[in-house]
Amino acid sequence: MRAVCGIAHGTGKRLGLVPSMGALHEGHLSLVRAAKGQCDVVAVSIFVNPTQFGPNEDFAKYPRTFDQDCVLLEKEDVDLIFAPSVDEMYPPNAVTVVTVEGLSNKLCGKSRPGHFRGVTTVVSKLFHIVEPDVAFFGQKDAAQVAIIRRMVRDLNLPVQIAVCPIVREADGLAMSSRNSYLNPQQRKSALVLYRSLMQVQKQFEGGEHNSAKLIATAKEVFAEEPSVRLDYFEIVDPGTLGALSDVSQPALVAVAAFVGKTRLIDNITLRL
Ligand code: PAF
Repeated sequence: MRAVCGIAHGTGKRLGLVPSMGALHEGHLSLVRAAKGQCDVVAVSIFVNPTQFGPNEDFAKYPRTFDQDCVLLEKEDVDLIFAPSVDEMYPPNAVTVVTVEGLSNKLCGKSRPGHFRGVTTVVSKLFHIVEPDVAFFGQKDAAQVAIIRRMVRDLNLPVQIAVCPIVREADGLAMSSRNSYLNPQQRKSALVLYRSLMQVQKQFEGGEHNSAKLIATAKEVFAEEPSVRLDYFEIVDPGTLGALSDVSQPALVAVAAFVGKTRLIDNITLRL
C-alpha cells in the first residue's frame, strides 16, 4: 500500500482516503463520490478495527461483506482498496496508542470507554501508511470527526479532513452498517432517534434556545417509544464536545440509543 501510494505522490497526484470498516452503504459511497470529485487517486480502507470495540461489543458479529463491498467500490471506479489483516495492522505486542485527551471521553466515549482511542490509533496508522492529501469522514460520527480533527491539528498531520453530510433513508433513519441488525419492528422503533432530533429542531426554530429544555423535549419523544433505551442526548460545542447550556453558537445535538442490542447514533447541528 505504501509503495503504490508513493507512486501516486511521486507523480504529483492528489490522493484521497476513505477509511471504513466495510459493510458499505450509500453513506460510505457518498464519501467515495466526494473523494472522486476532489482527488486524482482514491483509496478506500476496509478494516474492522478490533481496538475500537469494547469487550462486550459487536466486533465478532460486525457485518463483513467484503466481496459485495469490492463490487460497489469498483462501480464507483475507486483506484485502491486497502484491506489489511489484524496482524498486519497490529504487530505482536503493539502498545503504542494515540489518545485525544479530554475529547475521547465525551459523548460515545463515555459509554464506550477506549472506543475513540482505538479510532484515533487506527486512523493515525492509516494516515501514516497511505499519506493521503485528504481524508473523508461522515458527519454521522460527529464526535469522531471532532476528535480526528483535533488529532490532526495537535500532531501536525499533513492531511486535510473533509466531512460529508449524513445520508438518510427515505423515512429519516441515518444510514449505518448496524441498521442491518434491526428486525422490522426495531427498524420502525429506531426512527425515534430522528424524530427526537426533528422535534428539538422545531422547538429551536420556534425560539427555544435553552439546552435543558430542548433535551427535555427530546426525552419526552423517547418516552413514547419505551422499547428504545436512550444512552445519551446532549447539546455540545461541535469542536470541543463540551456541553452548551444554551444554543447561542452552532451546536451539535447528538443522540445515542439502544434498539434491542443495537446501539445507534444520530445528530443534527443547530445554527442561529
Ligand atoms: O467510522 C468508521 O467506520 C471507523 O471508526 C473508522 C474511521 C474507519 C476507523 O476504524
